[in-house]
Amino acid sequence: MKDGINMASIEKNNMIKPKPVIRCSKIYKSFRVRGRRIDVLKGVDLEVYPGEIVVIKGRSGEGKSVLQWIISGIDTPDSGEILFEDVPVHHLSNEEISIFRRQKIGLVFQNFNLIPSWTALENVESALLNNNMSEEEKRSRAAEILSGMELGDRLDNLPRELSIGQQQRVALARALINDPGLILADEPTGSVDDVTARDMLAILIPYIRKRKGAMIVTTHGSFQAVNHADTLYLLKDGILIPEKGRQDYQSY
Ligand SMILES: Nc1ncnc2c1ncn2[C@@H]1O[C@H](COP(=O)(O)OP(=O)(O)OP(=O)(O)O)[C@@H](O)[C@H]1O
Ligand SMILES: [Mg+2]
Repeated sequence: MKDGINMASIEKNNMIKPKPVIRCSKIYKSFRVRGRRIDVLKGVDLEVYPGEIVVIKGRSGEGKSVLQWIISGIDTPDSGEILFEDVPVHHLSNEEISIFRRQKIGLVFQNFNLIPSWTALENVESALLNNNMSEEEKRSRAAEILSGMELGDRLDNLPRELSIGQQQRVALARALINDPGLILADEPTGSVDDVTARDMLAILIPYIRKRKGAMIVTTHGSFQAVNHADTLYLLKDGILIPEKGRQDYQSY
């Protein structure tokens, strides 16, 4: 103790606490519908650290998807600041944001947005950004990640020739192929049964833990990732209410 302050604890915290992958401060967002203003986000603060799984629960209509769109740069906040690895995302141009998103963020949204006329392999391959790779290398990298998700014998299938769970794994492969620092998953298991949801988590959770990527999952509550959350929030009345805290930075 020095001057009544526990220096060891401060130093420990400073040494161990890593930089957040993303930091959102005082995010506000409202919509105007036929003259009526709807305030959706009313001062959301959120920090997510490398390797951390953050789950945000909230009832339908509370603003979970709006928050995910804002974090991903698909939509902009009315006010507030978003720093992604210290880069103020909201100050980038639309083109810069889109490049940034493709490099740094994996999106796993409820409707998978696979291109219907492309095969599983083409859907995944098209997301690969590494320009130093030959077409052949890209193809084999996409095939490798799909095979890791037990889709090695479905590479040439179109999305409609795959089950919903298989389509979801293609979308997962596409989201993970650039090794993103942050995965945003909005109700990712909303349209699949419990077993498929568990299979999907069996891919995602070890991936996050191994690569020290971070993930923000939004859900109306049933998503089993709640059990894997390092940090759990409730989105209610436009703000995030902590339910389970980050306990030990060393674990990230
Ligand atoms: N483009 C828009 N124009 C007007 N209002 C919108 C728009 N997008 C979202 N909203 C409103 O914002 C609120 C939050 O919507 P959001 O889609 O984020 O909810 P959610 O929490 O994701 O719900 P769910 O669990 O049903 O997916 C809703 O009241 C919705 O009507
Ligand atoms: Mg939603």
